[in-house]
Amino acid sequence: MSTSAKTQDLGSLLKDAALFKQQGYINGQWVAASDGATFPLHNPATGAKLADMPHMPRSQVTEAIDAAKAAFPAWAALTAYQRQAYLLKLFKEMEDHNEDLAIILCTENGKPLAESRGEIAYGASFLNWNAAEALRTYGQTIPSPYPGTRNTVIKQPIGVCALITPWNFPNAMITRKMAPALAAGCTVVIKAPAETPLSALAMSVLSERVGIPAGVVNIVLMDKGEREAAAGLELCENTKVSKISFTGSTPVGRLLMKQSSGTLKKLSFELGGNAAFIIFEDADLDLAVNGIIASKFRAAGQTCVCANRIFVHSKVYDEFASRLVDRVKQFKIGNGMDDGVNIGPLVSQRGVEKVERHVEDAVSLGAKVLLGGKRIDNGDGSCFFEPTVLADVPRQCAVADEETFGPLAPLFRFDDEDDVIERANTSEVGLAAYFFTQNLARTNRVAERLEVGMVAVNTGVIAQACVPFGGVKQSGFGREGGPSGIDEFMIEKLITIGGL
Ligand code: SIN
Repeated sequence: MSTSAKTQDLGSLLKDAALFKQQGYINGQWVAASDGATFPLHNPATGAKLADMPHMPRSQVTEAIDAAKAAFPAWAALTAYQRQAYLLKLFKEMEDHNEDLAIILCTENGKPLAESRGEIAYGASFLNWNAAEALRTYGQTIPSPYPGTRNTVIKQPIGVCALITPWNFPNAMITRKMAPALAAGCTVVIKAPAETPLSALAMSVLSERVGIPAGVVNIVLMDKGEREAAAGLELCENTKVSKISFTGSTPVGRLLMKQSSGTLKKLSFELGGNAAFIIFEDADLDLAVNGIIASKFRAAGQTCVCANRIFVHSKVYDEFASRLVDRVKQFKIGNGMDDGVNIGPLVSQRGVEKVERHVEDAVSLGAKVLLGGKRIDNGDGSCFFEPTVLADVPRQCAVADEETFGPLAPLFRFDDEDDVIERANTSEVGLAAYFFTQNLARTNRVAERLEVGMVAVNTGVIAQACVPFGGVKQSGFGREGGPSGIDEFMIEKLITIGGL
């Protein structure tokens, strides 16, 4: 892989260049790696170098944890109304800087600008939702069987939370974790991803501006490899950390669980997906095509909830395939900053290689390429893959088992409801599933039988701050957003009083 020798001055694209930071944020200070180590960050659409980021050793993760621990008592002691006020100010800052935040996101992640703007609005919605949730962390009183006894249950913040976030939603996965944590009264250490650190840092600039006290929000950064592994270990083994919220792959989730078993942390994990997307013979096909476009091609297919296995009933298979191909042909691929582009690059060459492997494997087993199927090599290290539609994909192949994380729509054929549910449920993961039907009885039957945490019927859009997001089986546990999301960052404490 060649990497472009170009550099890009991202700051010059921003109205507020101070949002572009190249340092970590610990205890209210902007800091380099303690030994000066850095790693380069590249734009996946052009290969141009954007920044040199701090490559922090484990000792700085410890420092960040210490800072969060020291800041915890005062932050936890604020009233819920005071914490709400901070979150609402941060929400407003995000709205005011939507365009700059979107440009940063688009440049480091590749997500087209319009979609990046959408992610910033989505990210901000977690602040808005959790600002309100801060006021609703109700306790309970419970009648006691013992005379003269009163039982009260209160909710308290759990303490220092480690937030380990992914690169596919560089902004929204930070706010989805940070907003409920702060609303609950917790302090946080965010390990931002090496691929997309700038969006995380821009959020820290804003949190500093709204006056969130030093140590409440900390961001540590390092490249993949040994230092990242050491940071993970520190977050897992340090007894000052009470909770880990992680979004990422199932293997890393397993590792974090093992590493944190010695300190028995509370965990919430949003791990891999392999969503089934089922189009029954009675589906509204226009709706189903819109659904696939929204689900499969959002973020160029790099979402955990995106359609991975598309099951189409034989009776509508050819018609659906042809309508889908017509729509996918209309995508404009390119640098997300360019006008009209609606499919950007993948985040890395590794991502491109995986899509390529899935296509080659399916084709070698008999699948037909209806559209796309190849990487786009611009010779500059950029990471593009053609939006691809495969037909006649066999039951057994890599894309049936593994999440592709790219713009590949594989069409499987089915004839029978029971069979397609069984095939959907064979996956070891269970994050999301989608299906399209006009039949009310089937809607309820199928939704209840799918082994996933989230089911979408006649829509390709699931995520909203107001609903519980999370999976079952090897997709993890815990819920983000919705009425129970804030509870992931709180403990219930019983106070039983006798002798009354
Ligand atoms: C993810 O990739 O899991 C996040 C998707 C979303 O929030 O819609």
